[in-house]
Amino acid sequence: MKIAKISGIGHYVPELKVSNNDLSKLMDTNDEWIYSRTGIRNRYIAVSETSYEMAGFAALRALEKAGLDPIDVDLIIVATFSGEYATPSMACLVQKAIGAVKAMSFDLNAACSGFVYGIDVADQFIKTGKYKNALVIGSEKLSQILDWEDRSTCVLFGDGAGAVVLEAGDDVGIIDSVNYAIGEAYECLYAKNVGNKTPFYEEQNEHKLMMNGQDVFQFACKKVPEILYEVMEKNQVNQEDVDYFVLHQANVRIVTKIAKRMKISIDKFYVNMEAYGNTSAASIPIALSEMSEKNMLIGKKVLIAGFGAGLTYGCSLIQF
Ligand code: COA
Repeated sequence: MKIAKISGIGHYVPELKVSNNDLSKLMDTNDEWIYSRTGIRNRYIAVSETSYEMAGFAALRALEKAGLDPIDVDLIIVATFSGEYATPSMACLVQKAIGAVKAMSFDLNAACSGFVYGIDVADQFIKTGKYKNALVIGSEKLSQILDWEDRSTCVLFGDGAGAVVLEAGDDVGIIDSVNYAIGEAYECLYAKNVGNKTPFYEEQNEHKLMMNGQDVFQFACKKVPEILYEVMEKNQVNQEDVDYFVLHQANVRIVTKIAKRMKISIDKFYVNMEAYGNTSAASIPIALSEMSEKNMLIGKKVLIAGFGAGLTYGCSLIQF
C-alpha cells in the first residue's frame, strides 16, 4: 500500500497587515488586552485578494516546491467556510486559476479542523491507489463574515491560505489520522448563510460569526489532548518520539494549557498566531509552510491537530 507523502508546502497572506494598535483606532480595544489573552499582535486582511486567489497562490507555491505541474494534479480539496461563492466550490475556482484541468475538485467544511479533515480524506484516495497526488488547501477570508461590532470575536481572526501537495510514496508520510465532531455543541461557534428575500418569507439570518469563547476554550483544552494521546497510542509512538506539535493557531493560552496538561515542553509546540491571528483552516498549513522554510521538518515526526466549529476536532501523525 502507498503512503501519502507531503512533497511541497506553501502559503499566502494578504498585503494588508493590521496590528492590534490599528484595531484600537477602530474600536474599544487595545494591544495589551488582545495580546495577553490570545498571543495575537497582527493579522492580515484581504482587501484586494479573493479567498480563491489566496488559495491559488498558496497552491502554486506548494506545487513549485513539489516540482509538480498543475496539469498533473489529480485531486484538489479546499478546506474553507468563508469563500465568496456558495457554488461553485472554491476548489473549482482554484482549479481554473492554476490550470489543474484534470483534478477532481471539491470543498470541505470542518471550520478550523478543515485542513486536518482534508489531509485524512486525501490520504484515503492516495492509499487506495485511486490518485497519485492531491492538493490540500486551507483558505479563509474570515474578515468578510466577522461581526466588526463585536470586539470579543473580530480581533481574534485573520485572512490567509496554506497548501500542501501529497504524493504517493513508499517510505514516509501521513502515518495515521483521527477526526471527530460533536454536532450537539454546534451553538458554541457558528455562522449562518446569508439571508434572502423571497416572495413568501424574509430570512432573518445573520451572516456573522458567533462564538462563546469560553466554551470553545474548554472544548479545545479537553478534546485535543484526547486525540493526540489516541493517535500516539494507536501507532505506538511516545510523546518523546514526536519532534513538533502543530496545533490550530487560535490562542497561545490554549496551546500552553494543552502542553502543560500533557506535560510536554512548550518548545515542541510551534506557535505563530502572533503574526497571523486565527486563520481557521489555513492556520496549520501556514505554520507548516513557515517551518518548512526554516528547514525544521526534514526527517521529523510531527503531530498536527485542529479544533473548531462543528464542533470538529482531529489530528494527523506525519513523518517528514
Ligand atoms: N478588547 C478589550 N476588552 C474586551 C475585548 C477586546 N477586544 N473583548 C472583550 N473584552 C472585555 C469584555 O467586554 C469583558 O469585559 P467586562 O468584564 O467588563 O464585561 C472582558 O473583556 C472579559 O471578557 P471575556 O469574554 O470574559 O474574556 P475571556 O477572558 O474569556 O477572553 C477570549 C475572551 C475570546 C479571548 C477567550 O474566551 C478565548 O480565547 N476563547 C477561545 C476562542 C477561540 O479560540 N475561538 C476559535 C476557536 S477555533
